[in-house]
Amino acid sequence: MSHFSQYAAEVSLWIKAIFDSEAGRAVISDPAVYDLANNVKELAIRLESSEPIEEEIQELQRRADMLSVRLKAAQTHKGKEGWRAVSVPIGQHKLPPLPYAYNSLEPVISEEIMRLHHDKHHKAYVDGLNKAELMMEKARSSNDFSLLKHWEKEAAFHGSGHYLHTIFWGIMNPKGGGKPTGALLRQIEKDFGSYDSFKKHFSEAAKQVEGVGWALLVWSSRSRKLEILQSEFHMNLTQWDTIPLLVLDVWEHAYYLQYKNNRADYVENWWKVVYWPNVEYRWARAKQVQWTPF
Ligand SMILES: [Fe+2]
Repeated sequence: MSHFSQYAAEVSLWIKAIFDSEAGRAVISDPAVYDLANNVKELAIRLESSEPIEEEIQELQRRADMLSVRLKAAQTHKGKEGWRAVSVPIGQHKLPPLPYAYNSLEPVISEEIMRLHHDKHHKAYVDGLNKAELMMEKARSSNDFSLLKHWEKEAAFHGSGHYLHTIFWGIMNPKGGGKPTGALLRQIEKDFGSYDSFKKHFSEAAKQVEGVGWALLVWSSRSRKLEILQSEFHMNLTQWDTIPLLVLDVWEHAYYLQYKNNRADYVENWWKVVYWPNVEYRWARAKQVQWTPF
């Protein structure tokens, strides 16, 4: 048996031990962990009985590492009903409570604004998002997607509205003001030159949003730097505070030379080249960013 198949055999024993023990089964009750564990198990079994090449073993190693991270995270949440405690069922978003009294941001923001903004406007986004999610679920179960474009727009508008306001309440506080400290301050200075030039840029971005919208300081996990962005309305079809996993380019440049105006054929064929291990990997990494669910 080669070194490579030896390693695959060890991984497969490790997984078997997880599936065979009660404690292990409890930890993998999270569907995401369960699917990943099965996926690693199948790959390990296949590689231990073949002559795997280095790339295949690296892939197995990568997935086994991922599984081990997910197992640790699942163990951390076990005391809180496991994964169920950390996800919002379809159509069941809730208005998060304001983390301080309605009048505590006065005189900067009046109590009257805070009451209207939180209780009426934010609540409407929560209701709108719940409705859109339920209608999209209905479309899936009835296989009737004729109004999908409308509900996707609603999901983006109300979803971004809900998620951005949830962040907004948290990043304000009566004890606020001053400057960030430590690592964040150093990152701001690195990416914008100085705190003052960051503040100027952010304020200008906010003042210059065309019509209604937001200014946002964002962390780009791709380029590993801070960036300032504007959002018109809440979204323009994105849902801020989400991480893309599977994306399909339907600009003409992606298919026109080959498919002409037949976008539908391109979309149908495209599924044959989707590489799910990469999507799974992105999802496993994305799931490590966790905020309190609302
Ligand atoms: Fe608002």
